[in-house]
Amino acid sequence: MCGIVGYIGPNNAQDILISGLSKLEYRGYDSAGIAVGDGACIATRKKAGKLANLTADLEHSPLPGTFGIGHTRWATHGPPNDTNSHPHATENGDIVLVHNGIIENYLELKEGLLERGHQFRSDTDSEVVAHLIEEAYAGNLEEAVRAALAKVRGAYALVVTHKDHREIVAARTVSPLVMGVGEGEMFLASDVPALLNYTRQMVFIQDGDMVILNDDGYRITDMQGHPVQREVETIDWDAEAAEKGGYDAYMQKEIFEQPQALSNTLLGRLHDDQGSVELDIELDPNSFDRIHIVACGTAYYAGMVGKYLLEQLARVPVELDVASEYRYREPVVTDRTLAIAVSQSGETIDTLEGMREAMRGGAQTLGIINAKGSSMTRELDHTLYVHAGPEIGVASTKAYTSMVSAFLLLALWLGQQRGTLSKEEVARLVHEARALPRLISEALSDDRLGRVRAVAQKYHQARDYLFLGRGVNNPTAYEGALKLKEISYIHAEAYAAGEMKHGPIALIDEHLPVVVVATESRLLEKTISNVQEVRARGGRVILILSDGDTENVQHAEDVLYVPRCDEMISPIVNAVPMQLLAYYTAETLGKDVDKPRNLAKSVTVE
Ligand code: AGP
Repeated sequence: MCGIVGYIGPNNAQDILISGLSKLEYRGYDSAGIAVGDGACIATRKKAGKLANLTADLEHSPLPGTFGIGHTRWATHGPPNDTNSHPHATENGDIVLVHNGIIENYLELKEGLLERGHQFRSDTDSEVVAHLIEEAYAGNLEEAVRAALAKVRGAYALVVTHKDHREIVAARTVSPLVMGVGEGEMFLASDVPALLNYTRQMVFIQDGDMVILNDDGYRITDMQGHPVQREVETIDWDAEAAEKGGYDAYMQKEIFEQPQALSNTLLGRLHDDQGSVELDIELDPNSFDRIHIVACGTAYYAGMVGKYLLEQLARVPVELDVASEYRYREPVVTDRTLAIAVSQSGETIDTLEGMREAMRGGAQTLGIINAKGSSMTRELDHTLYVHAGPEIGVASTKAYTSMVSAFLLLALWLGQQRGTLSKEEVARLVHEARALPRLISEALSDDRLGRVRAVAQKYHQARDYLFLGRGVNNPTAYEGALKLKEISYIHAEAYAAGEMKHGPIALIDEHLPVVVVATESRLLEKTISNVQEVRARGGRVILILSDGDTENVQHAEDVLYVPRCDEMISPIVNAVPMQLLAYYTAETLGKDVDKPRNLAKSVTVE
């Protein structure tokens, strides 16, 4: 899941490529590189490590030219080093390319090329494609790329240039690619935020498309060379949305954007006057008997809350799976199954393939998705956008609370439409949900921030953490543990609080901080008895309590209060102290919060 960019036009290509890569670094930061053409040759510069290493190098000797390509890498084939960095060129340097994805048959292709005398510099699968293009090249770059790709199996967004052509040829299968249409200039990138500084006119390149960019504009064809029309869409995100806006990190900014993000998720869907919910999807609420939720990582934990809400409010049986298992477990799917994909990026390959598996079984499909124009939104029957805006921090925050809010809306709507919820109960929960943006703002108040930061600093040396929750807040514990793991690298586990005594309780001693979600709930008493089991073994209890709960303070070494709210909406509010605990712990440990090691924002390879 690398980030790729391309530019052709009258302006300095280096600046535009670097600016684009800086907005894509969340996709991978093992190395970065650019190649710029000045009409005579294509000059390449690449450096292992973060983009800053490359920009420092370019400061000394910039690359002149007004067209070029760029790449920021998440290593799959070959360790992160200068040689394996993209762009990759043929031995004579005539053909230069960048690639995001995996060439599955690259070894057999490479063997054939080696037998035919080609020499390789890197360990990557991507370099093989440059040599295949060289073999097919007879003066027409577009045709050479098409011929080369006919031999390739796998996933790719590929951008290619040739020293003799003021032209960029790109192609896409599986890995995302968007084209930006400017005034007399053209742009390419893996994702929209990279181009928002230059244009909001975007064309989402689809599987099997080839794009040819030059100074006259662009052409799109299929893999056989037939012309293809694609819509130019105007993106309603502005460039500022993709900036840090004065925050220390995108993750911090996105945590504080949650009140606005949730307002956007609820906008036009809650009708307080009628006490009802209306969704902007064409789904027939009685067209299915069973729901399958399929997702990965944080999106999976949003799905976990979704299962509770859909079963309790809409009384529909729900199966929940991590996508990488679902796609190979031959799930029992019928045409009365609704398969729901949950995804911030809309590109996660395991989730996409999981949905294709459900579609093969005849299921109807719905996406709860943030990223506009993403692959899932194009393939699934219905999309319930969560409207959280661009999320750049690798650790997902506002997309999580927006995805859970979307599940709340879906469960309320289904309960209302299928008659499993009374009009009064729908109206009551609509009223509760309406308060979410305010409740999140309160959860982000200065005094609460100070408390969380103090707790984070107190335990930042901990080797392990345990997170516990029950009922609809069991997933909150899992999300809390994931956030801490992702950005502080502290080992953290989560369990259903009632499950702890069946094994994990053995982990507890006076060195283990144990975060327990114990907000207002019909299971609070049960949760508190689990807390006492932890205390009895010397565990360091950090309790998440509802405002005004002074009775249970006695059971904790540290307390983090959250605004009091209804149990059904509490997972959204309770996610905030989890996000902040992870953020301040990583900050105290001096970690790169936005670009945690080994991770990338959207996982487009298996
Ligand atoms: C969450 O912080 C991580 N970035 C990761 O677990 C993520 O949730 C997962 O890769 C799914 O991504 P998606 O929502 O874009 O499909």
